[in-house]
Amino acid sequence: MRYVIGIDLGTSGTKTVLFDETGQVIASHTIEYPLYQPQNGYAEQEPADWREAAFDTVRAVMDKSGIAPADVKAIGLSGQMHGLVMLDAENRVLRRSIIWCDQRTAAECAEITEKVGADRLMAITANPALTGFTASKILWVRNHEPDIYAKCRHILLPKDYVRFCLTGEYATEVSDASGMQLLDIPGRCWSDEVLEKLGIDKAMLAKVYESPEITGELTREAAERCGLIPGIPVVGGAGDNAAAAVGTGVVRDGKAFTTIGTSGVVFAHTSDITIDPKGRVHTFCCAVPGAWHIMGVTQGAGLSLKWFRDNFCASEKETAALMGVDPYYLMDKAVQESPIGANRLLYLPYLMGERTPHLNPDARGVFFGLSAMHTKRDMLRAVMEGVTYSLRDCVEVCREMGVNVSDMMACGGGGTSPVWRQMLADLYGGPVGTVASKEGPALGVAILAMVGAGIYPSVPEACDAVIRQGTVQEPIAENIPAYETYYRLYTKLYPAMREQFKALAAL
Ligand code: XUL
Repeated sequence: MRYVIGIDLGTSGTKTVLFDETGQVIASHTIEYPLYQPQNGYAEQEPADWREAAFDTVRAVMDKSGIAPADVKAIGLSGQMHGLVMLDAENRVLRRSIIWCDQRTAAECAEITEKVGADRLMAITANPALTGFTASKILWVRNHEPDIYAKCRHILLPKDYVRFCLTGEYATEVSDASGMQLLDIPGRCWSDEVLEKLGIDKAMLAKVYESPEITGELTREAAERCGLIPGIPVVGGAGDNAAAAVGTGVVRDGKAFTTIGTSGVVFAHTSDITIDPKGRVHTFCCAVPGAWHIMGVTQGAGLSLKWFRDNFCASEKETAALMGVDPYYLMDKAVQESPIGANRLLYLPYLMGERTPHLNPDARGVFFGLSAMHTKRDMLRAVMEGVTYSLRDCVEVCREMGVNVSDMMACGGGGTSPVWRQMLADLYGGPVGTVASKEGPALGVAILAMVGAGIYPSVPEACDAVIRQGTVQEPIAENIPAYETYYRLYTKLYPAMREQFKALAAL
């Protein structure tokens, strides 16, 4: 039997999974690390934490599985997108990584739009200038930390920094590079025009590959750290969402998925490039060579629930520890004791600003309609419903663009909650499927690794062989109009507060 490893560098931790060539999980290990928020709207992580977590989780899965290192045929990398890693001439990390949900770069976005021109930016990078994307983070360092910028020789994305630690290569692939705002999305290569207009030296950027291509081989030093043998190929892999698409079989037109991780995403595959002129959803290259995807993003999806758990659910955490279950399991139970609409309580999940459909880094979270009768259960239900309303916003934009999202799957941490999946089915007004494997991005990049290693001829054929369908959640007919009423009210709240969010940010 041949084996592959998928490493998924997430925001809360790195999860590494060893699969056999049929996609069965042989061993899995996760290591968590901190997120630093030195100021409101800032979000940073330590690249050394990612590196150590990658090495240690690979070693752990090898130790747990007991399989011979020579039977591991390839490694795939998935990761949180957009984060900025800067290395000096000696490959030392110059500063903590400014990651995807950081919102400090509004001024740099204006600078990008002015220098490149809004229309050219849209035509080349398929997106308006966005605070989350890497280009504005690069400019922020240049504007605010010129000494650090002067020493910078290499710019890498989070998972590509781990790749560098594994292989010594400066390499990336089209799906993750799409989120830098420096890639020519239709052409799938760096844009000389954007780089020139922004004054960013192309030599600092990594070489761009297609996702299943081999980008380098495991070095002797990395192999020793990981309990593997040198020379194992490392394929391009994919940004976390493009990887989750492969791991869920969303690799053909008509297929889509919703994932609830830290952020929430509605992702639709398309073999024709489609761009939203209003920039409310992203258009990126996907991990299937020659295809793209559109993607709507709710910034604070699982993040909202985690925030609520960590600040208000100490007793649930204690009870869960005593019962030996996940606190989210108890929270799911509590939510079912509150009715649809949470007794007339709505929540806007904009804890870290919002992308789809508002594109506003200054938006912030809101509970709307609090009354003395509300309980923690209602607030919890409102949080889950608010995130689902925001995901519905993403689906509405896809529908408006004429992109078919009818074959919808759910994945990610939140996708494992039947309560949340039911909310999705009721609010989308259609069935929401799942796949048997819960490994989403790790499985996705393991599939890419299988293709890179020649085990399967193409990504869609590998998905056909490896992915097994799971349960389907059908909408409940009477829930649909009940949710619809609340969703309509939800869509009216943000426009009513837009100016006040701006005023709040200016205080
Ligand atoms: C995608 C995005 C997030 C991150 C973190 O544009 O910002 O999905 O990749 O998961």
